[in-house]
Amino acid sequence: MSAPLIDPFQRAINYLRVSVTDRCDFRCVYCMSENMTFLPKKELLSLEELDRMCSTFIEMGVEKLRITGGEPLVRRDIMTFFHAMTRHLDSGALKELTLTTNGSQLERFAGQLFDAGVRRVNVSLDTLDEKKFADITRWGRLPQVLRGVEAAQEAGLRVKINAVALKGFNEDELFGITEWCAERDMDLTWIEVMPMGDIGNEDRLDQYWKLTDLRARLAERYTLTELAERTGGPARYVRLDETGQKIGFITPLTHNFCESCNRVRLTCTGELYMCLGQEDMADLRAPLRNFPNDTAPLQEAIRDAITRKPKGHDFDYSRQGVDGRVTRHMSHTGG
Ligand code: GTP
Ligand code: 5AD
Ligand code: SF4
Repeated sequence: MSAPLIDPFQRAINYLRVSVTDRCDFRCVYCMSENMTFLPKKELLSLEELDRMCSTFIEMGVEKLRITGGEPLVRRDIMTFFHAMTRHLDSGALKELTLTTNGSQLERFAGQLFDAGVRRVNVSLDTLDEKKFADITRWGRLPQVLRGVEAAQEAGLRVKINAVALKGFNEDELFGITEWCAERDMDLTWIEVMPMGDIGNEDRLDQYWKLTDLRARLAERYTLTELAERTGGPARYVRLDETGQKIGFITPLTHNFCESCNRVRLTCTGELYMCLGQEDMADLRAPLRNFPNDTAPLQEAIRDAITRKPKGHDFDYSRQGVDGRVTRHMSHTGG
């Protein structure tokens, strides 16, 4: 293995999030606009290129790979890629292969994911109400996702639910969603809505539900015990003593977690974003494509990119206009 990737703030980069497609079968209102223009297929890294890219990162010390999208499971033949990554789990170089999904295709793929070595999935689910689900995703069908979650558990995958906390939308479901997860032995993470994409910042501000408030409401009914444990992600966890369940909070706005950031993000076109909340990126597709038989130029481009990793994100609801938000959609970098 080559020397580990260390950024200018002495953070070791051992987690790569890979968006394998910008497409999705849903259009969550905080993530995409209704009429998205998706990339032409020729712009995408092929599955072989994704393999070479990920294998190079693993060679450089990446131990955790999270596959995202868009919706990763709508990418054609994506299972071929998952199965190809199994060799890195088998060799011990890769410690975790996982994905973040909207759950719509899980019923079909859960078994194959388990066979490829995936043991944990994060499923995005903001409401348990069919009508509200159809509204927030613009046309998604809740029962299909619930069947997917069930199939994942039956296949032996541990499921964590990700819910974006939205004022006036799922505030009334705080206890309902918590109990639903507890009954199914699933962890739950709440995420503060981030100002990304071309949908007006004002809307986001209206919907912004501070997780400190959410947590205080949770504490009215449950005893919360702070957990020191981290999963390598930005979430901080508490245990609800009454149910034993773990609840995570991802709070980019109220509590900046950047000081322990260990990840970078690769888009489906081979751009490397050093931070979710910044616009700077490095093109890795050129060194990958121009030198098909030599990974040295790609490795050099990766090392150079890591030297540009910023200290933290720049999200800020108090600053209106482009400088307080990131104009690309969340689906471009996969969350
Ligand atoms: P685990 O801790 O391994 O379960 O993963 P995770 O929480 O990193 O992954 P997940 O895809 O479930 O992340 C949930 C959401 O948290 C993402 O989709 C983002 O919205 C947000 N998030 C994850 N990492 C970061 C980060 O580095 N910065 C910011 N601002 N948000 C992040
Ligand atoms: N703010 C916070 N989370 C978001 N996600 C998508 N867009 C946003 C946003 N603007 C979440 C999804 C999913 C993950 C991929 O990112 O709900 O859990
Ligand atoms: Fe699709 Fe996930 Fe974005 Fe929703 S949040 S539109 S499910 S990529």
